[in-house]
Amino acid sequence: MKTERIIYLDHNATTPVDPRVLEAMLPYFTEIYGNAASIDHEAGNLAKQAVERAREQCATAINARPEEIIFTSGATESDNIALFGVAEKYASKGDHIITCVTEHKAVLDCCTRLAHQGKHITYLPVDQYGLVDPDAVRQAITPRTILISIMAANNEIGTLAPLREIGAVAREHGVLFHTDAAQAVGHIPLDVQAMHIDLLSFSAHKIYGPKGVGGLYVRRRNPFVRVAPVLYGGGHERGIRSGTLNVPGIVGMGKAIEIGVQEMDADARRERAWTQQLLDYLREHLGEEQVALNGHPTQRLPNNLNVSLRGVESKSLVVQLKGIAIATGSACTTATVEPSHVILALGFGEERAHSAIRIGVGRGNAEGEISFAIGIVATAIGRLQRLVV
Ligand SMILES: Cc1ncc(COP(=O)(O)O)c(C=O)c1O
Repeated sequence: MKTERIIYLDHNATTPVDPRVLEAMLPYFTEIYGNAASIDHEAGNLAKQAVERAREQCATAINARPEEIIFTSGATESDNIALFGVAEKYASKGDHIITCVTEHKAVLDCCTRLAHQGKHITYLPVDQYGLVDPDAVRQAITPRTILISIMAANNEIGTLAPLREIGAVAREHGVLFHTDAAQAVGHIPLDVQAMHIDLLSFSAHKIYGPKGVGGLYVRRRNPFVRVAPVLYGGGHERGIRSGTLNVPGIVGMGKAIEIGVQEMDADARRERAWTQQLLDYLREHLGEEQVALNGHPTQRLPNNLNVSLRGVESKSLVVQLKGIAIATGSACTTATVEPSHVILALGFGEERAHSAIRIGVGRGNAEGEISFAIGIVATAIGRLQRLVV
């Protein structure tokens, strides 16, 4: 079944697979199908070589070493391993974790569970732009703190965290630093050494790779970070993540991240121009005071625009946009009608949260599509506003 051609503007939810990525993956379904752990024969060895090449590609993108990359099923699993794995291994050292109110549910729900298990969680607030203050991180640290988990880039509003400053605070106090970089890897420069990051979660499907595959960077030097497994079994991935490796998926992720890094500047330039064009148009046509930008004006993901449109209920708007895919909140929470916890955390109230739309542009969009989409969005907004007055 082929879906009708749509203008896809939801690249923060997921991205299409880049044809170059698909091409790299294809042989690993039907020709090189060995189990990367069965290395007594050529079939397994070829699969293992491909996995190791992908490990290198992922490591290079964040200035890590290949042996520090653990393959998982996605950023959700990576976040789970980071939080539960550190909480268990460092239980004798402490029981306090610092995170932030605007994290993805993959982190927040782990923290809720850990709190049920008796751990202490500090949820730091953010400012009106969604930024965490590194000084607040410093002040929250206690002798019992074992982990700081702050996301690299917010999936709803695109705000980029001051990773370098938070990493420096973590290092100064000898506390481990985890970052959920699902939206950031391959989109913005990341360096686990310069930023003092000890654990970093990433996912293939946010960077034009396949769904259902991701990774976790776990530092092995200065310090050697230990994590307990979440899944038990054959002892794959240094015993941290048992289970037969998804070889085609891993090959695709390696290629996708490699392309992401190579084309980062060009992609970002185009995306930034489009998101600015969208914002300018909305402001011009609806009036400056009708359009509120959610997130930081400059410290943000190039591909993300999140705006609240005064008097417009975003759910009603997006269902009217036939042929255009735009989100109201994060894809993972849109099954509920609750206002976005991220927009609420900025301190502007429920109306602003209920009128927020998220536009995520990407590599697959063409110039003409953006202006076409702008026209349709503006018409739909006009129709809704007429209904309200
Ligand atoms: C910041 C962030 N963390 C975690 C996830 C979950 O990633 P995955 O879909 O790979 O499990 C997402 C995806 O929505 C995300 O944006």
